[in-house]
Amino acid sequence: MTAPLFAPLKLREVTLRNRIAMSPMCQYSAVDGIANEWHLVHYATRAVGGVGLIIVEATAVEPRGRISPFCLGLWDDGQVEPLARIVRLMEAHGAVPGIQLAHAGRKASTSQPWQGGGPVPPSQGGWSVIGPSAIPFRPDGPVPEAMSHEQMDEVIAAFRQAAKRALAAGFRVAEVHAAHGYLLHEFLSPLSNQRQDEYGGSLENRMRFPLEIVRAVREVWPDKYPLFVRISATDWVPGGWDLEQSVAFAAELKNVGVDLIDCSSGGLSLEQLVQAGPGYQVPFAERIRRDVGIVTGAVGLITEPEQANNILAAGQADLILLGRVLLREPYWPLRAAAALGVQAGLWPPQYLRGRL
Ligand SMILES: Cc1cc2nc3c(=O)[nH]c(=O)nc-3n(C[C@H](O)[C@H](O)[C@H](O)COP(=O)(O)O)c2cc1C
Repeated sequence: MTAPLFAPLKLREVTLRNRIAMSPMCQYSAVDGIANEWHLVHYATRAVGGVGLIIVEATAVEPRGRISPFCLGLWDDGQVEPLARIVRLMEAHGAVPGIQLAHAGRKASTSQPWQGGGPVPPSQGGWSVIGPSAIPFRPDGPVPEAMSHEQMDEVIAAFRQAAKRALAAGFRVAEVHAAHGYLLHEFLSPLSNQRQDEYGGSLENRMRFPLEIVRAVREVWPDKYPLFVRISATDWVPGGWDLEQSVAFAAELKNVGVDLIDCSSGGLSLEQLVQAGPGYQVPFAERIRRDVGIVTGAVGLITEPEQANNILAAGQADLILLGRVLLREPYWPLRAAAALGVQAGLWPPQYLRGRL
């Protein structure tokens, strides 16, 4: 029997060659939301490295939904072909192409992390931000405009259109970003959502808008292709969004045709007290998998092949998402196969003489 990390995973009609996924990671390197040579090399390298699924970074469904002016976008047809070129290369090297569809809400319009990551005002090339309520993310940050129902309809339509463009680009997995304090998470958490209408207050009300978005994406995303949702399983703040609510949300997501819950955490509040350590978010994936009966992805400080393999063997999750370790070690899956004694057949013939 092969190591669980190298067992294929079939979701709907898409089969991943192994359980290793590249977690979405913003590159802050696009101009006008358009992918370029940096993205091509970056993603193709991880495909050559043996990753089973690549989830392209948070890609904005409308310009004001970008985290920074340098984020990828899919609000325009001209953004499709540069991504399609990358998709073809990923497929040629055996990785299933996925993409994260995102709206940054009140955390939009910031600078690149290496420029400080602070708010960029409209006078310096930024834009005004929107959210569920007029509550800023940070004291020195912009106060978001509380969204009207018309604006909410526009965002739903933008997610639908972006999903269609992702399909046109050739992606076979779509992930809706409902984590890290961005727009959908802002509606979920009572800390950022203090609306008085049917989109605020009770848990059912706070889930309403995110579920409307996911339903709209599912409608246009083909039945044969899987849909993921990334959540923050907890805000790490008393009185905020928590694991119990995440279990309820995951059950609703399952009902609307979501195939996998990608279990991250945090990002909504500066008050968060994160207890980070190796595999610290794995218990969230485990609990949601068990209680909801849905496929889950584990992410966060998973760095070693044995560690990743054991999470799967213990039934804590079905997919391992790797972030930072893949930035420093793009060929991690090749090393993992060697470490676990697996002949995964991942080595490109051109590189065979360098095989571990
Ligand atoms: C440079 C960088 C960019 C990131 N961008 C995104 C993103 O676009 N979408 C997202 O959901 N998470 C993003 N994340 C979070 C990662 O996907 C991942 O969840 C996190 O880094 C924890 O996993 P790790 O410990 O393996 O890095 C980013 C992380 C890094 C380091």
